[in-house]
Amino acid sequence: MNIMKTLETKNGELLLGGASVSKLAKEYGTPLYLMDEEEIRANCLRYENAIRKYYRGEALVLYASKAFSCKAIYRTVRECGLGCDVVSGGELYTALAAGMEPERIFFHGNNKTETEIREALSAGVGRIVLDSAEELRTVDRVAAELGVRAAVSVRIKPGIDAHTHDFIATGKIDSKFGVALETGEAKAFIGEILQAKHTDLCGLHCHIGSQIFDTRPFVRAAEVMMAFMAELRESYGCTIGELNVGGGVGIRYLASHDPLTIEENVKNTALAVMEAAERFNYPLPRLCMEPGRSIVGDAGLTVYTVGSVKEIPGVRNYVSVDGGMTDNPRFALYEAAYEAVLPERPEAARDTVYTVAGRCCESGDILIRDIKLPKIRPGELLCVLSTGAYNYSMASNYNRVPRPPVVFIRNGAHRPVVRRETYADVMAKDLD
Ligand SMILES: Cc1ncc(COP(=O)(O)O)c(C=O)c1O
Repeated sequence: MNIMKTLETKNGELLLGGASVSKLAKEYGTPLYLMDEEEIRANCLRYENAIRKYYRGEALVLYASKAFSCKAIYRTVRECGLGCDVVSGGELYTALAAGMEPERIFFHGNNKTETEIREALSAGVGRIVLDSAEELRTVDRVAAELGVRAAVSVRIKPGIDAHTHDFIATGKIDSKFGVALETGEAKAFIGEILQAKHTDLCGLHCHIGSQIFDTRPFVRAAEVMMAFMAELRESYGCTIGELNVGGGVGIRYLASHDPLTIEENVKNTALAVMEAAERFNYPLPRLCMEPGRSIVGDAGLTVYTVGSVKEIPGVRNYVSVDGGMTDNPRFALYEAAYEAVLPERPEAARDTVYTVAGRCCESGDILIRDIKLPKIRPGELLCVLSTGAYNYSMASNYNRVPRPPVVFIRNGAHRPVVRRETYADVMAKDLD
């Protein structure tokens, strides 16, 4: 079932980006993350081209590196003209090591440590996205100590819940991220920032959710944020020069999913910002977007080897693979849905229902519940599709399972960008 754009079946076998999945599994072993670098680049360019085409003001696309972070991805997105966002000192360290320009890095997080704030300000990141009054005090103090000015934006909860039917729930106030608009908290907080001695307010930010298939909540968020900027100008006399509308564009995990195209969403958001700017006679802000999943999600898959197949008559058929929640915790976390394919016989008739289980000592270690597949034999390869986002970056060493390697494929050629962990790697931090 072809739900990834660059996955194809040729001569009875599965190819990703022109390379044979089963040959790569033989060469690198399993479990194995494969990512089509060409598709990642194409997704970056879809954002770049659409924002240049539809937005008349300045724009910056930032790859949300929480989706998949390693040196190679920062280099790839940078080459495509993107900056990145980071949410920890570790991501910042990796992005800088990969050569990302500090001014193109935005630092997020609802509880950045003072050490991280110091690292970010010392590196000269483009923005620290403030999340609380407490954080403002720390940022302002550390900036004074370092003798620098802190360029900040503010994470706003615009009161839009993209996952409710009418997109105007108040539920989003109940979020650990940011400051709320409708309670007056955000406005008061911005008043405080404007008083801070070593901090410059450069922008506003919002992120309304993830895996969103509808363009309307994005448009609504852009309108609400622009109206808020106009209100702030009225109240404080400040013109804020940047609006960051976050990420959240969904991808196809199942054949039934019908995601927006990147271009559609960028276009609608850009038009909404331009219309609002005209309505409020507001100068066009620099428009920032922070896509993560829609850059890498549908460029990646994970290859496993099937171990045991257990048929429990009248109950369930379990097929266990040599990875699981350690390389993909998303089912265990929130019952995320995935599609699977047998790469050595992708077109075989699917006549048996299986639950694909991982190898960890945890009943919740499931990858896919109840999927129709061909009758599976132990020793076969099995691919879980669309695992490019929030898989490697969420992987763990639970049960001391070493993490799989990541291999980039580009036009049929392949190169490892993260090597397989060894037992020694897993034990490396243990002290005698
Ligand atoms: C602040 C922020 N920006 C961007 C993203 C990326 O979202 P997505 O991967 O859905 O595009 C997230 C995801 O959680 C986020 O919290």
